[in-house]
Amino acid sequence: MKKFQNSKLARILLLTIIMTVVVITILFLAGKFSPQKLTAQQFVNLQQGDNTHAGFRRAHAKGICIFGDFESNGNLASYSSATLFEKRISPFIGRFSIAGSNPTAPDLKAPVRSLAFVLNNDTNQEWRVAMNTPPVMAVTNPYDFFEQIQALSPDPITKKPDPEKIKAFFKEHPESKAFNDWKANYVPTNSFATEQYHSINAFYLIDKSGHKQAVRWVAVPQATKESLPKLDVDSADALQIQLSKILKNNTIKFDLVFTLANAQDDENNPTIPWPDEREKVTAGTLNIISWEAQQNGKCADKNFDPLVLPDGIRATADPILRARGAAYAESFRRRAKEVLLGTQEIVRSQVGNEQ
Ligand code: HEM
Repeated sequence: MKKFQNSKLARILLLTIIMTVVVITILFLAGKFSPQKLTAQQFVNLQQGDNTHAGFRRAHAKGICIFGDFESNGNLASYSSATLFEKRISPFIGRFSIAGSNPTAPDLKAPVRSLAFVLNNDTNQEWRVAMNTPPVMAVTNPYDFFEQIQALSPDPITKKPDPEKIKAFFKEHPESKAFNDWKANYVPTNSFATEQYHSINAFYLIDKSGHKQAVRWVAVPQATKESLPKLDVDSADALQIQLSKILKNNTIKFDLVFTLANAQDDENNPTIPWPDEREKVTAGTLNIISWEAQQNGKCADKNFDPLVLPDGIRATADPILRARGAAYAESFRRRAKEVLLGTQEIVRSQVGNEQ
């Protein structure tokens, strides 16, 4: 009798252990034990804020479509097997934008300007690029970036960012020094055409024998501020209007300049600038030839996900870079659904449609 009771007890104990292991495994796989679990949905909720603009990007909502080509000079071909770096011309669809979630925000108030493009669109060798004006990030990982956005967001009561919160955030993040130094000295230029746009995150170029070289790149403007039409500083659409005027008679050109990392440079840390003396290679020229308003424009349904890369370019393990793809996809999913359902906000075309 006692033996029977013991074996029953043993079975109950075994069953309890198995059940506990199963429950713990399920919770673990669901991320319940990870204090730093952050989803793309949470990111995009935070970025879009309380005032959602249906049909628009949840970040960099205000922009203008641009079209042109990348004229590669072949200088990068020995570092990367990507065909677009051979001496050739590849067309692109792109977009100039300003940071923020408001598609009607005043151009000249935005702290960050951006240039994105997709090269070799509709082939299996697409290169999607999204660049910003700062050369570095303030933080090293998506969790801290999430907190940075929270710290910079307007207070629900005052509707303004809280300077004390911002100060406290940056004090807790000394790695933001290079970013804050850049910010303190940055003076926005008088045009989308005269800014420098940085990859910020590093990528690998992979050559034909599989050797990898970590790089960052910057689009360096050929235009000078003297050569441009005057800005209408009272217009919310000042940068877009000026862009449309430039493109009536001229091509806007940027050199695409790659910086090659040394063994001392950490390609997975986007907060640290690489020393100026690093070798640089100019890969060619981006020629921007025409534009179109973004609503119903050809760039509207593009997702400039920087993890979509051709053979010969590969993502580094930089956690910020790795987090971008899922967030861009979530923003794209939301706005594409709104367009499909016909619930998108209609925004007056920022500039006239005449070219
Ligand atoms: C974890 C970090 C980041 C997150 C979560 C994030 C999130 C997003 C999201 C949700 C969008 C809208 C995508 C769409 O609907 O098409 C976006 C757009 C954009 N992001 Fe980021 N981003 C991050 C980091 C960066 C960095 C480091 C850069 C610059 C190198 C950057 C540059 C851009 C640009 C230029 C656009 C606009 C692209 C366009 O014209 O459509 N982002 N970002």
